Amino acid sequence: MAKILVAYYSRTGNTKNIAEAVFAGLDGDKTLQNIKDTEDVSPYDLVFVGFPVQSHSVPLPVEDFLKAIPPGKKIALFSTHGSLTGSRLSREAMEYAMVITSQTKVLGSFSCRGKISLQALETLGRSPEHQAWTEMAVSAASHPDERDREEAKAFSRWIISLYAQD
Ligand SMILES: Cc1cc2nc3c(=O)[nH]c(=O)nc-3n(C[C@H](O)[C@H](O)[C@H](O)COP(=O)(O)O)c2cc1C
Repeated sequence: MAKILVAYYSRTGNTKNIAEAVFAGLDGDKTLQNIKDTEDVSPYDLVFVGFPVQSHSVPLPVEDFLKAIPPGKKIALFSTHGSLTGSRLSREAMEYAMVITSQTKVLGSFSCRGKISLQALETLGRSPEHQAWTEMAVSAASHPDERDREEAKAFSRWIISLYAQD
């Protein structure tokens, strides 16, 4: 039976919430862990890695974590973001994550929106770097919601079916 790790990084709980849904979609020998408590991924056959989009990119601890995954390892990526699903702003960090994991075998990816406090939006929105996504993020206030969690579960089941076919 495959040994599966779901590792996540989360500052305000949105990505943790989705990581729990990803985890709930899995059966068998599985572990859910914060990235900061994960030393070594070599014992696992399949590793899910979840992160929030931060400043148009992958948070540094996640970047370090992704770069340390051994070549050839089967992985799946998921993210949460304030920007609109499908927008370039929501995809750019995932695209970067794909580049830095190009030596691994990425089976698939998933992303959904995640809320951010109005206070943080106001403060960040004052800087030109953050203006575009903070404008979009106002409407992320109810996410992640039950549907996002259901989709995250469906994502993890889909990844397992790909893993089984491989
Ligand atoms: C400092 C900061 C920077 C962020 N940068 C972006 C960004 O560039 N693009 C985006 O779509 N969302 C951005 N967000 C929104 C987060 O990605 C979103 O709220 C996410 O769900 C937070 O996940 P977490 O609760 O797991 O930390 C940012 C949030 C913060 C606090």
